[in-house]
Amino acid sequence: MSSMAGTLRPLVAGNWKMNGTKSSGAELEAISAGYDDALQGKIDMMVCPPATLVMAFAAMARDAALAVGGQNCHANESGAHTGDISAEMLADAGATAVIAGHSERRADHGETDDQVRAKAEAGWRAGLMAIVCVGETEAERDAGKTLDIVGGQLAGSIPDGATAQNLVVAYEPVWAIGTGRTPTTDDVAEVHGMIRERLTARFGGEGEGMRILYGGSVKPGNAAELMAVDNVNGALVGGASLKADDFLGIAAAYR
Ligand code: 13P
Repeated sequence: MSSMAGTLRPLVAGNWKMNGTKSSGAELEAISAGYDDALQGKIDMMVCPPATLVMAFAAMARDAALAVGGQNCHANESGAHTGDISAEMLADAGATAVIAGHSERRADHGETDDQVRAKAEAGWRAGLMAIVCVGETEAERDAGKTLDIVGGQLAGSIPDGATAQNLVVAYEPVWAIGTGRTPTTDDVAEVHGMIRERLTARFGGEGEGMRILYGGSVKPGNAAELMAVDNVNGALVGGASLKADDFLGIAAAYR
């Protein structure tokens, strides 16, 4: 689709979701150790642990080039929002990125495109890169609405002012998350191509430089095939990012 997209530095990010305790530090150490100079020369790697582990993981990962991100943030900087965490707090704890609008938050917490956009802006306010997630449900795909749904989410969830540095898009078909099912490479190419077109139409050259991750049942066994698709600039990995061997096996698609 775009000549530049093939040359973007890939990002392989792990979303640990609601998994992990202090004892998981050993797994992070193993991921850090496996993110060696050769891999560092080719790709960015990130782990997004639960909020309770962001500070400890950021301290552990400091010398390893491995980035640490948050999984969500409140749109405000501070205030009376019991149980919420601001982007500034994530940054203070050592995070350099935040996921916004994961489908589990859209489903479990009713997050709307407007709220997701506000969270992405909050991330920028705190100096974080925003990883904005989009993706259709199975019913939407079956109804032939995938491009409409994803296009609408993109338009509504990405704030004005997005750049290649401050924004990453993650396409995660809801029906592929945690199911072991993935779209065909043709289907991935179609959606990622549409996303690239929309980003370029709206943000020009910056849109060409934005990374578009695929997420949903990425495993060591299918990563090479998925990562080779046009306009796929890395992966957002759930379950397989919890084990260093699997996560590094996915990153190995770029070796
Ligand atoms: P799985 O890799 O477990 O399918 O999860 C994908 C995901 O939701 C990452 O954000």
